[in-house]
Formats: sequence, structure tokens, C-alpha cells
Amino acid sequence: MGNPTIAASLKSSFRIDCNFDLPTIPVMMSRILRVLDDETASARKMEELILHDQSLSARILKFANSPLYAFRSEVKTISHAITLLGLNLVRSLAIGMSIFNSFTRGARSEAAHLNNLWMHSYGVGVLSQKIWGRRSTRKDAEFAFLCGLLHDLGKVVYFKKATTHYSYVFAQDRSGEQPCISTVEQEYYGISHAPLGAILAERWGFPAALCTVIRRHHSAPDQNAPIVAAVSLADSIVRQAGIGYDGDRRANPEETGPQAVLNCGEEELEQLRSFAEARRKEIEDFFRLVS
Ligand SMILES: [Fe+2]
Ligand SMILES: [Fe+2]
Repeated sequence: MGNPTIAASLKSSFRIDCNFDLPTIPVMMSRILRVLDDETASARKMEELILHDQSLSARILKFANSPLYAFRSEVKTISHAITLLGLNLVRSLAIGMSIFNSFTRGARSEAAHLNNLWMHSYGVGVLSQKIWGRRSTRKDAEFAFLCGLLHDLGKVVYFKKATTHYSYVFAQDRSGEQPCISTVEQEYYGISHAPLGAILAERWGFPAALCTVIRRHHSAPDQNAPIVAAVSLADSIVRQAGIGYDGDRRANPEETGPQAVLNCGEEELEQLRSFAEARRKEIEDFFRLVS
């Protein structure tokens, strides 16, 4: 595939074994995890966390005052921004920034790839919430958003540990008969992003259900894990709608499997595709502002 020099020179540079040194959890992410289930105090605690991070505070205020929202008066405080934008959106911004921005070493092309991955992940979060929201409570749907946002977490590790090589692997336009990105990762690094992401998620103390989604989002659909199917279906829809990029443009191979598990008919699928199309510009505008 592509440039054999780059591929060959880096083939043995990154293999997962028992000595592999996993990245440490970003400080903001570990703080957010600590208040994730704290319903009563979460808005206030989130505000405190954000106020400790100048760059995040500035971006949230910039975002709240953007034409995207056109609130009547200027948003001057984080607590006002949380009230107007919603805790879920502000939290996802904080998580996205803590993970996707802190893992780039600053090279331009790699930052652009990570930004595309973040945009894709955000889109999958939005769609997962939409799909799961029809089948569960609002709180569970918000959890589905988080699952979608973090489903491709493993890819961040390759960007960190095999920066040049993975940037090359990731940037390939996979739309024909080429092997899927998971197969390529397995070949080069000895592990694909789904199990790698789950190892990291477990190490970082993510909730068990979130670790399961990360581990199995490319596995055969399972009736007993419908939230995995929701994220897998969302992943396919977002890829095909071209919202960001996660290294592949095709649907996941078992495309109809998640639909069957979710009992999602053609009519709902069409609605979801239209929803993704309609949200694409909004999501792209959002990323122009936050990245
Ligand atoms: Fe994936
Ligand atoms: Fe993905």
C-alpha cells in the first residue's frame, strides 16, 4: 500500500507487548470522569474545572458568542455558557479538547488528521445520542454521546506513538477494495484500535460500559449489547456522510447487523442519514470555532 519506504521503515517501530508504555490520562479528562455521575453538583463542578483551564474557558466563551448560536446578549461567564449551551455540549468540548488537542505534537498535518478524527468522533456522538435517545432515557442517551465521542480512542495512541507512520496510514483514502483500517493497524502494530482503545480506557478508569463500546464497535453485532450497535451504526452513517474522517469512508462491514439488533428499519435509517447531512455544516462550523 502506498509508499513502501515509509511503511517498511516503520513496520517494527510500534508493537504492543507487555512493556508497552500507554499514554497517561490527560488531567482534565480524569477530573471530568470524577464528576461524570455526580448529577446534582455536575454543572457547578464542571464550571470549576473549566475555570482552571484558561484556554478551554476562552474557547467556550468564544463558542457561546459565535454566530452559530446568536444568543441575544453577550455571554460573559462560564456558568452562563453552561446554562445556554447545556452541560452535555460543554462537557464534550472539554473531553474532546483534553484528548484530541493534547495528543498532537504540533505538526500541522498530524493536527489536521486529529482534528478530522475529533470531528468524526463528535459526529458519531451526536448520531449515537440520536439513535439511543429513541430507545432509552435522556441520561442514557447522553452516555451514548460519550460512547460515540470516544469510540475511536485507540487511534489517538498511534498518533502519539507512531506519529509519522500513522499519519500516513490514516490519511489514505479508503473507499474501494483496500483492507479496512483495523486490518492495516493489526498488521503494522500488532493490535487494532478497538482493543487498544479499550486497554487504554480500562487503564484510565472509564466506566465498564464505555470500555465495552470501545472494544467492540467493529465486532459482530450482539443482541445483548445494543448500545454497541448504536455506536457502530452511527459510525457507518457519519463515515458515509463525510463528517470529518476516521481513516475509512465505508460503512462498517456488518452494516445491516447493528440495524437488526436495534430493530432499525429503512425509514429510520433514511431519517438518520438526513439528520447527519443536515447537521454536517453545523458540526463543521463548530469545529472551525473550537480547533
Ligand atoms: Fe473504529
Ligand atoms: Fe469511527
